[in-house]
Amino acid sequence: MINIRSNDNFKSPWIVGHRGYCARFPENTLIAFEAAASAGATMIELDAMLSRDRRVVVIHDTNLDRTSNGRGNVADKTLQELKRLDAGSWFDTQFAGQQIPALSEVLDLLGRRIYINIELKSNAYESHHPADAIERQVVEMLRQKNLLDVSLVSSFEVNFLEQIAAMEHRPAIAFISEKPADPNTIRMCRRLNVFSWHPDYRIISQSQVQKMQDAGLKVFPYTVNTRADGVKMSGLGVDGIITDDPELAGRWINAV
Ligand code: G3P
Ligand code: CA
Repeated sequence: MINIRSNDNFKSPWIVGHRGYCARFPENTLIAFEAAASAGATMIELDAMLSRDRRVVVIHDTNLDRTSNGRGNVADKTLQELKRLDAGSWFDTQFAGQQIPALSEVLDLLGRRIYINIELKSNAYESHHPADAIERQVVEMLRQKNLLDVSLVSSFEVNFLEQIAAMEHRPAIAFISEKPADPNTIRMCRRLNVFSWHPDYRIISQSQVQKMQDAGLKVFPYTVNTRADGVKMSGLGVDGIITDDPELAGRWINAV
């Protein structure tokens, strides 16, 4: 695996497995990440927040209700309590026993086999920046596991990007947005040396893609789930797509 920033990486659009391979597997579980890697995704995307005992855990929603048999907020449970929950049956009974992973488990599973996009959920941002803030834990974990050069940390929350940009050893960072990029966004991305822009695919245009690429950013729209949208994004010249079905997306992209 070469450094994520290498331009040799972008000869064809990347396929990014959103929450793993969440069209066919329970999102943000080890089986979904393994399936995305097997399906040929270039990178997987996952969602990260903190448990009550301040461990980095991989789950999308603030509360447990939709994607596990637990109830209540993730931030009110310890990692051990979260690990007791079933995070697979809600999707299909054949996945009973899948757990909410700690981030370290996902990194150990995938290692340097595939690029990893860690989205820091906005609700995990702490303005007083404690020593064990999620962004510090994540970057330190990547450093210890020798994954800094093959990881991408993204967020809607610009403050996370500010914090990481100031670190001496840091992974590539990405800005996620539901809104078109304006001159302030472009200035911020340049100032923080942001690697990629992850817009909602519904708000981008040819000129937006061009503007961001001219500013030196890669463009990875989310969440592109139909062939028509995949072909459209490819036509706009994006650098990759974030999709729930990496296997299907690979077929659309290769057919263009
Ligand atoms: O990282 C892009 C996308 O995952 C952001 O939206 O809600 O699916 O985390 P969401
Ligand atoms: Ca996400």
